[in-house]
Amino acid sequence: MSDSVNEINKNNLKHHSDYPPESVLNALFVKSADLPVSKPVEVCGYDFNEGLNYSKLFSSFATTGFQATNFALGVNEINKMLDKKMEPIPIDEQCEINLDPCGRAPTSCTIFLGYTSNMISSGIRETIRFLTQHNLVDCIVTTAGGVEEDIIKCFSPTYVGDFHFKGSMLRDMGINRIGNLLAPNDNYCKFQDWIMPILDQMLIEQKTENFKWTPSKIISRLGKEINDKSSVCYWCYKNNIPVYSPALTDGSLGDMLYMHSYRNPGLAIDIIEDLCMLNTRAVRARSTGVIILGGGLIKHHICNANMMRNGADFCLYVNTAQEFDGSDAGASPDEAISWGKIKKIAQPVKIHAEASLVFPLLVAETFAKRIDKMRSTEV
Ligand SMILES: NC(=O)c1ccc[n+]([C@@H]2O[C@H](COP(=O)([O-])OP(=O)(O)OC[C@H]3O[C@@H](n4cnc5c(N)ncnc54)[C@H](O)[C@@H]3O)[C@@H](O)[C@H]2O)c1
Repeated sequence: MSDSVNEINKNNLKHHSDYPPESVLNALFVKSADLPVSKPVEVCGYDFNEGLNYSKLFSSFATTGFQATNFALGVNEINKMLDKKMEPIPIDEQCEINLDPCGRAPTSCTIFLGYTSNMISSGIRETIRFLTQHNLVDCIVTTAGGVEEDIIKCFSPTYVGDFHFKGSMLRDMGINRIGNLLAPNDNYCKFQDWIMPILDQMLIEQKTENFKWTPSKIISRLGKEINDKSSVCYWCYKNNIPVYSPALTDGSLGDMLYMHSYRNPGLAIDIIEDLCMLNTRAVRARSTGVIILGGGLIKHHICNANMMRNGADFCLYVNTAQEFDGSDAGASPDEAISWGKIKKIAQPVKIHAEASLVFPLLVAETFAKRIDKMRSTEV
């Protein structure tokens, strides 16, 4: 080997003996500063060796991370709403005139609940029925299906099916699919038979008494007429919980109203009166909490009403939508803060999750635990 080749090899070895270079060491072992949290919490999940204790299991979510931690934050956020709701209204803020536009007894926290139609198609209906039966929320916003599916279930059930049942096969069988749920078309025929005489009567009242129908008044009337304790609309009617649905025509209810307009035309629905009632509710509330399952209209309608009071005080979203597309459905609570829909000092939570799985657990850890203290109606 020549001297010059030896020299090159020596240099290479020197290079290897220096490994890892200081720059690599500096990159790998950056010194840690203090954590950017005031009280650091160690990540730790549930230990099943301690036996099966659901209460401890849910508590362990706080330190589990990801959406489990968001679940725990969500439980905390609802509990803050309920603590506030139980606070007596100070004497100097009490008013002899009930300022609530719907005449509900005021509390220190007005709770708005929003949910998409499919929640009522699913078994979440029973969880929402529990909340309305015991008068635990003050105001609801939903879409048309969230009303009609509740009424229809009083006639005939919706069934568990499969996401993969073929549409063409189901069409031939007269069965409609909602995710992995099945709603026979006959259910909607029964709904039609039931609602047509009610719409006729509503039109008579409009013509003879000059009665102005709004979506919330129609929903309350349907709740009264259905007179069935399994129904969310029934309990909202009973407990004077307004249900707002500005797009009430976008569903089977709209199909019924369309057909009724041929049979017996003239029924009119005013959505502005409902808008004023909803916004006034938010404006006059001592504080507000919003719980929104899903996105779209129901999410924005509640948030927009809260903008009228410079933001909700407490907020929980549960939805699967993402914000990268700029949709309101996926907009984070922080985006809502920029609009004044949630207060700057609030600590809103979004649980990125499918609500049928999460909402019953949230209610189990909050409303259901306090039911004896909070219940204001006999069932
Ligand atoms: N059963 C039904 O779903 C049904 C029945 C009749 C009419 N409709 C009509 O269809 C229209 C659209 O329905 P919509 O406005 O109620 O909302 P939607 O079903 O379009 O949902 C809106 C958004 O909410 C989120 N979301 C929905 N389901 C969720 C879940 N289980 N968990 C977490 N996030 C969820 C998703 O991000 C979704 O994009 C409405 O006008 C409604 O009246 C629906």
